[in-house]
This record gives sequence, C-alpha cells and structure tokens, in this order.
Amino acid sequence: MPKQNESPYVSHGFVCTNDRGGERKSCADNNSQLIKSKLKDAVNEKGWKGKVRISTSGCMGALRQGLQFDDLPSEGMGFRSFS
Ligand code: FES
Repeated sequence: MPKQNESPYVSHGFVCTNDRGGERKSCADNNSQLIKSKLKDAVNEKGWKGKVRISTSGCMGALRQGLQFDDLPSEGMGFRSFS
C-alpha cells in the first residue's frame, strides 16, 4: 500500500491531446489521441498495467514535445520529454 502522496506507478506518461480546432497548431494535429491509445495498448501488452500509467494532458507548452514522462518516485516531478 503506497504512503499518502506516494504514487503506485513507476512511471507516468502524459500525452497532450489539446485540439485547437485548426485555429492554432496543437498536438491533436499530429494524432496525439492515437499515440496515447497506442501507448496504452503497449503498456497492457507488456504487462505493465498498474506500474506505468498513460494519461491525457492539456497543453504543456511543449508543442514539439507533447509526450512527457515522469519517473516516480525516484526522480520526483522531473519530467522528460519525447518528440
Ligand atoms: S498543444 Fe500540446 S503541448 Fe501545447
């Protein structure tokens, strides 16, 4: 049982699925919803469910790096970005 404020996950990935409807560039323009879905499938296929979590995020101000992972808890809130 995790302590209070301690994540049960080893890693938590955030995929920005922000969609600005073409008014401005956003991660949804690059199929980020599909990327999130494929990542979730991969987590399940690898048997990592319960250890690795994939979540949706809004804009993280990193348009070219819409996928970010937080390694928990060893690196705290240190996000790593992937393009
Ligand atoms: S629109 Fe995805 S990070 Fe900004």
